Amino acid sequence: MELRIAPSILAANLCRIADAVARAEAGGADWHHVDVMDGHFVPNITFGPSTVQWLDRCTNLPLDVHLMIADAAGYLDAFLDAGSDIVTFHVEAVPHPSEIIRRIHDRGRLAGVSVKPDTALSSIDGLLGELDMVMVMTVNPGFSYQEMIPECVDKVAALRRKVGEDFDIEVDGGINAETIADVARAGANIFVAGGAVYGKEDISDAIHNLRARLQEAFSRKGE
Ligand code: DX5
Ligand code: ZN
Repeated sequence: MELRIAPSILAANLCRIADAVARAEAGGADWHHVDVMDGHFVPNITFGPSTVQWLDRCTNLPLDVHLMIADAAGYLDAFLDAGSDIVTFHVEAVPHPSEIIRRIHDRGRLAGVSVKPDTALSSIDGLLGELDMVMVMTVNPGFSYQEMIPECVDKVAALRRKVGEDFDIEVDGGINAETIADVARAGANIFVAGGAVYGKEDISDAIHNLRARLQEAFSRKGE
């Protein structure tokens, strides 16, 4: 299974966003993570479809769009039209998740569902067969630069047992050089990192460092 690092632009210096994403891309990022917040589902407001559209024009990497919005159904087409490659929405916010997954697939994109730290994995049981990915939030969504909630590591392990080896599990929130090995050993394979990449002086070096921690985690997994 592929291990992917997805730097979150929410943590970047937005005065220099084109330069920041180019550096992340050159440094080996796999996806760009775009945090969309509406001030309702989470207590913060960030990017809209036009941000995704501009990013799509200045990078070749897939855009991993994380919708932390109450009306995912209403805004979905706008984010798909803008060039989102992977769309993840929150199961807590959406009454008819299967319909949204189907609409994402109809446009040939990948569909993910995210669960907040207090949301039980059983809430997505009926959806697993339809999904390309599940995102386990490892902080309460809303802001970059928070600390990972350690209890979420067990949740990742439980999800991995549930879905088997061949399924993408993304973790989001507080992933850094100290925490990435634990969530990787628990079974995550896609790692969002905001502050741990864009908060560093050398973006490329920060990505290499995370990857080195991942390699260590797997070379020691059988010990
Ligand atoms: C939080 C966002 C995260 C955040 C990650 O609500 O979904 O993607 O930007 O930033 P760090 O890695 O700094 O916690
Ligand atoms: Zn996110």
